[in-house]
Amino acid sequence: MPRDITVLHITDPHLLARPGDRLHGWDVAAAFEHVLEHALSTYPAPDAIVLGGDLVDDESSTGYRWLDARLAALNRPVLAIAGNHDDPQAMAAYLSHAVVHDVLTVGGWQLIGLSTHCPGSESGRLGTDQLAGLDAALAARSLPTLVCLHHPPVDVGSAWIDAIGLIDRDALCTTLSRHTQVRGLLCGHVHQRFESRHDSYEIWTTPSTMRQFRPRSPEFAEDDEHSPGYRCLRCRADGTIATRVHRVPRPQADDVSTPAKLPKE
Ligand SMILES: [Fe+2]
Repeated sequence: MPRDITVLHITDPHLLARPGDRLHGWDVAAAFEHVLEHALSTYPAPDAIVLGGDLVDDESSTGYRWLDARLAALNRPVLAIAGNHDDPQAMAAYLSHAVVHDVLTVGGWQLIGLSTHCPGSESGRLGTDQLAGLDAALAARSLPTLVCLHHPPVDVGSAWIDAIGLIDRDALCTTLSRHTQVRGLLCGHVHQRFESRHDSYEIWTTPSTMRQFRPRSPEFAEDDEHSPGYRCLRCRADGTIATRVHRVPRPQADDVSTPAKLPKE
């Protein structure tokens, strides 16, 4: 029987090989740490943490090893999925403290992590094998389910980012239409919050832990009005979900200490 669980969705940190390295003007490790600290001070014992992709922007082994050391210190169940800025093979090799592209079962809920990483492309694709695996997993277990993937299977109203969305979204929707236990899809990629209601499930996207993209902008534009953030989901025993996005003000240059210690080779 499902029970009430709390899930934190933290996405698009775009980490780099070395703590302190900057991307688009952001100390990405410090920004990630700032959001993570806020999330865990607000929800000290989440039942699961979902990392929603674009985890290590330069796809470096040192970046993934730094992240894994950080996850080890959390001592919480973590589900990690790849974005377009990731290396799924490196994730599987180095993220030993996370479930990677698999099923995480907690409190009578199942969280299914899928890879939409499409080599050489910013768009996403699940592929027929992964869709067949999803179909089989949902047929095998009727637990209330969250499906976690990087690219949302819907347009968010920004032409530039909708052009690099999920290519096989129709096939995913067809698969999901056969299984009524799916309560929600949890996505990253768009660096902004977005919600969309479908037949029996909702689709949520979550702000990045670093820069935001301006909603409904036809071409690329950063959003300076909104801070980084994360999403909390309260998944209830009756199968319903309440969700809230928290915004976390961008850290000032010197008020966050970035953990610099890397695990040994
Ligand atoms: Fe991203």
